[in-house]
Amino acid sequence: MCGIVAYIGQQQATPIIIKGLKRLEYRGYDSTGISLFNGSELHTIKTMGKVSDLVAKFESLPPIAAQIGIGHTRWATHGVPNDVNAHPQKSNTGDLVVVHNGIIENYASLKEELIHRGYTFSSDTDTEVLINLIEDVQKKEKVKLGKAVQIALSQVIGAYAIVVFDRKKPNELIAARLGSPLAIGVGTDEFFVASDATPFLEYTKNVIYLEEEHLAIIRSDRDVSIRKITNDKVIKPYVEELQMSLENIQKGGYDYFMLKEIFEQPQAIRDTLRGRLLSDEGVINLSSLREHENKFLKAKRIIIVACGTSWHAGLVAEYLLEKFTRTPVEVEYASEFRYRDPIIFPDDIIIAISQSGETADTLAAINIAKERGAFVFGICNVVGSSISRLTDTGCYTHAGPEIGVASTKAFTTQITVLSLLALHLGMVKGTLSRSEYQHHLLELESLPVKVTQILEQESLIKDVAATFREASNCIYLGRGYNFPVALEGALKLKEISYIHAEGYPAAEMKHGPIALIDEQMPVVVIATKKGHYDKVVSNIQEIKSRKGRIIAVVSEGDIRVKELSDHCIEIPESLECFTPILATIPLQLLSYYIAVQRGCNVDQPRNLAKSVTVE
Ligand code: G6P
Repeated sequence: MCGIVAYIGQQQATPIIIKGLKRLEYRGYDSTGISLFNGSELHTIKTMGKVSDLVAKFESLPPIAAQIGIGHTRWATHGVPNDVNAHPQKSNTGDLVVVHNGIIENYASLKEELIHRGYTFSSDTDTEVLINLIEDVQKKEKVKLGKAVQIALSQVIGAYAIVVFDRKKPNELIAARLGSPLAIGVGTDEFFVASDATPFLEYTKNVIYLEEEHLAIIRSDRDVSIRKITNDKVIKPYVEELQMSLENIQKGGYDYFMLKEIFEQPQAIRDTLRGRLLSDEGVINLSSLREHENKFLKAKRIIIVACGTSWHAGLVAEYLLEKFTRTPVEVEYASEFRYRDPIIFPDDIIIAISQSGETADTLAAINIAKERGAFVFGICNVVGSSISRLTDTGCYTHAGPEIGVASTKAFTTQITVLSLLALHLGMVKGTLSRSEYQHHLLELESLPVKVTQILEQESLIKDVAATFREASNCIYLGRGYNFPVALEGALKLKEISYIHAEGYPAAEMKHGPIALIDEQMPVVVIATKKGHYDKVVSNIQEIKSRKGRIIAVVSEGDIRVKELSDHCIEIPESLECFTPILATIPLQLLSYYIAVQRGCNVDQPRNLAKSVTVE
């Protein structure tokens, strides 16, 4: 949450920072701002709204020639979105500015202390407290900026990624992190700092991912110097080469990133399977598992922790892992798990699922599991993310950058990885026969083609969407493997179209939701042949008798459900365990087109952010 971009070097900072902020808007977009130093004056321009509003503000001002600057796009935590609460936040002297992603939990007591010492505050943010604390340390301790930031941060409880600039030290930026990500792009005589690497992709491929509790002193005329915040230990920077290309993060002709990402799914699933599903040899090769396979085989229990869409992938995994490995699985919201003093045995395996690899609650859940001696396996999309580094081992989904706030290809590729894991473990454990294993591998390989076939129905789904765009409520039903799909379908709809939607196991409808059904209520039913078909058909009859409007996702060639439904979307047949990957696709397109037809900004739905780095 919140995006940070900073630049120091020989180029004009403004266009680099603005372009970078646009790329980071998925992290928050309720207000934005930039501070620029032109050699004599520090200019801070801020506005409520999006980066496009900031650009409009810049256009009304004389140009600012600056080679150093810091920028921010905000997802409000403390203080409503407005110009004053937007970052950068200034210190009382006006010398120091900061951009911050995270929450300073003890800001109230720090603020009280600072007020007592004569400081005044104009915003409601915790960030203004932090920058004044840094200024106070600077004054009291008479130390350099880096040291002042370090001392101030040692008094802070909470999470942060920050970049600080002092106009008295105009060739230096200080960056630090705890709980929120920061990447430093290393160019020739220039450096970039950002919440992820996308803002500097076209300038450099060399990146340093700042580690937890590390502080970097960045000067254009020197190498980056890094130290540990807690003990001054000097750390040798580890420079990695970025694998991402500019093309990966552009819309490529699509109206929205979400649509692009929906259409990327056949390739994303292929990329997830590449090198892991070795069809010639008829085996799955998960290199990250090799050394740790025994732990999985001996585990009495697997606990999955995740949030949002990743939690839905976790629910699918519960079915997959229990079916193929016969190991009991629990799926927990990371935000609940972390605070309920969970019982974790040393021989438990924790699987943490996260697209961004930065979700604060998932990170906290992993920490608890590790403290209690459990082995943690991570499934992340973002390479080098905090979760991927914190876990004992894991698999990347390799879906490529997902920028639309509503997760799509991350979900289907997470299930793909989880399928590989479950099938492989089932095979080595002996709970899955070789012939069944081979049969599943063949089917897994065919999924990208089947996803493409579903995507070819885009215009049909668009027409269905037109019929439902005025709805104010919607129910999604599914059973077995299709229950998490119903939850995910409902989440997609509410996230981007603001239509209230609920997902239910179809049989549970009788225990409540059926009361809601009338001729106004659209009910989306996932009624594939392999998903308790007859039972779901009965549920559809029950809806029909109460005049509900039915949109059904059915297997190719279906007749019974088609007759009962108002609209039908066919998906190719597959094995039951892979249905979630296929059945999700039409629901993504349905939500997308309903939202577009309601005039919603699909990539930036209100109040949401893609990477939730605060709890
Ligand atoms: C946010 C995003 C969701 C995502 C969830 C978990 O709510 O908007 O799309 O599913 O966070 O994120 P993660 O990166 O951990 O998968």
